[in-house]
Amino acid sequence: MSRIIWDAVDRYVVQSLVPEADELEWVVQSNAAAGLPAIDVSAAQGKLLNLLVRMIGAKRVLEIGTLGGYSALWMAHALPPDGRLITLEADAHHAAVAQSNFRRAGVDQLVELCEGPALDALNRMIDGRQPPFNFVFVDADKPSNPEYFSACLKLTRPGSVIVFDNVVRDGKIVDANSDDPRVHGVRKLFEAIAAESRVSATALQTVGNKGYDGLLMMIVNS
Ligand code: SAH
Ligand code: DHB
Ligand code: MG
Repeated sequence: MSRIIWDAVDRYVVQSLVPEADELEWVVQSNAAAGLPAIDVSAAQGKLLNLLVRMIGAKRVLEIGTLGGYSALWMAHALPPDGRLITLEADAHHAAVAQSNFRRAGVDQLVELCEGPALDALNRMIDGRQPPFNFVFVDADKPSNPEYFSACLKLTRPGSVIVFDNVVRDGKIVDANSDDPRVHGVRKLFEAIAAESRVSATALQTVGNKGYDGLLMMIVNS
């Protein structure tokens, strides 16, 4: 019952308020045809990422976990012409599908895809002292969330916004004794944020056509 109504409401929201979803439907098809798992953000969530990037006027966006580039395309479409999105993907097949989608969407000038383990790319960026990112979306292997959080702090500046996906997982995150390494990674992330005075955060539970999950968002304090 709940899953059916969540689906219907998501459809209503997207049909009413998110006309852009139609223009990105080919990405969902292309990823399915290439055998990618359907674990991208929903259209309503993609639009939220797009709005957040525009609300803060972000010019430099970082994504950890590209898959086929669906969430990346929602964010790329929010960037100004001189903006930049760097997205990190470990899986060679996912990266190839995403790169082809970026080309087809005409955003391959705005988007840079770094293939390989995200932590390697993050450490290279930290060592390379490049300009800070204004917005970061973290959506990769959940056990590494604490490491991604500490890397994000080194790659952002006051006013930057950092969003983590999948922080609720059907409510599993309240189980302190869980032996699921993904739950453990999310709980470690919550602990690290709680102990970090440089950021201010909240998390929202979400339901919709991707089930019951949640988004964590924070701002780097001034
Ligand atoms: N953000 C995407 C979905 C990402 S799914 C969207 O909403 O459209 C998670 C992705 O993280 C997968 O493609 C997986 O291959 C990738 N991933 C897993 N571990 C990784 C790692 N250590 N470094 C980089 N990418 C990783
Ligand atoms: C999974 C990963 C995701 O990023 C997501 O949004 C949903 C599911 C997964 O690994 O199962
Ligand atoms: Mg996700």
